[in-house]
Amino acid sequence: KQRILTGITTTGTPHLGNYVGAIRPAIQMSQSANAESFFFLANFHALIKCHDPAQVDQSTREIAATWLALGLDTDNAVFYRQSDVPEIPQLSWILTCVAAKGLMNRAHAYKASVDANREAGEDPDYGVTMGLYSYPVLMAADILMFNATQVPVGKDQIQHIEMARDIAGRFNHIFGERFALPEAKVDDNVAVLQGLDGRKMSKSYGNTIPLFLPEKQLKKSINKIVTNLLEPGEAKDPDSSTVFQIWQAFATEQQTAEMRQAFLDGIAWGEAKKQLFELINGQIAEARERYNDLLSRPSDIEDILQAGAKKARAHSEPMLEAVREAVGIRTIK
Ligand code: TYM
Repeated sequence: KQRILTGITTTGTPHLGNYVGAIRPAIQMSQSANAESFFFLANFHALIKCHDPAQVDQSTREIAATWLALGLDTDNAVFYRQSDVPEIPQLSWILTCVAAKGLMNRAHAYKASVDANREAGEDPDYGVTMGLYSYPVLMAADILMFNATQVPVGKDQIQHIEMARDIAGRFNHIFGERFALPEAKVDDNVAVLQGLDGRKMSKSYGNTIPLFLPEKQLKKSINKIVTNLLEPGEAKDPDSSTVFQIWQAFATEQQTAEMRQAFLDGIAWGEAKKQLFELINGQIAEARERYNDLLSRPSDIEDILQAGAKKARAHSEPMLEAVREAVGIRTIK
């Protein structure tokens, strides 16, 4: 049986990139009879980037409601909050003791931070927390804890899954085979969804289109996607267009072929955006209603997460026990 696992950091409102890169493929994969799924709210990871408790709390509710509104079946999938599984930070420490510092030096997020500091003429490691530096180890603990084999993620997370494989390999080599080696599952059609300004859609760039914006605001937001100055009637290059790239992530192959032709025929930007809005809105309108309804019932969300944590711990407790035994810190009997 396959074990599918993925998480989302609870620092903001879920956006189209999270949806097409992780949530949509994860829910699809979890519907296969041959799969066991683990989906979680990565709130320990949130503390790395966000020191605003109200924001972490709000984001946690929003991300939970998003998974549920999109049809996650919590009878089949294990759905939990990372911080409700205390075995995860314990495993994270044990893995920290086998993970190479040199490996962490290569992590994109850490390197980006160091480069930015260097450019600003500051000490490169200034302001880099140990949390940011060890981020990939915590993520390895998330994955290895549940022996996940398939990790549906956007392209930006591939490096972290490779690091988790590396750390699992080292642990297995030193202490004996305990961990399955995980693999990233990236949907090639939507590897990195672009945001309003054409860069990767990302909370940290402030260029996201939130998934469940009210209809009018969704329309407004889509209208803000940056385009070139070509007039209606002038042929437009689909492959360099954010509007087209997002279209492709939601459309069928045939719809994509038709839009490609419309671009070459000089569709007006306003019209392309209108059609993009209709396409996306049509696919999410029902889920948006469930989302808003769920957000008005936070205690129901909490109950679901509590039940999920119980199921998660039925796996994490024996796993941690086996790992503790493997490294020699079990209780003396
Ligand atoms: P996070 O919260 O940044 O993003 C959650 C998921 O959304 C995907 N994603 C995108 N996919 C396509 N295009 C985009 N523009 C885009 N932006 C985000 C991400 O690739 C990711 O799959 N470290 C992780 C959370 C995490 C995790 C894990 C994931 C913690 N532990 C264990 C998998 C397994 C993160 O910060 O994702």
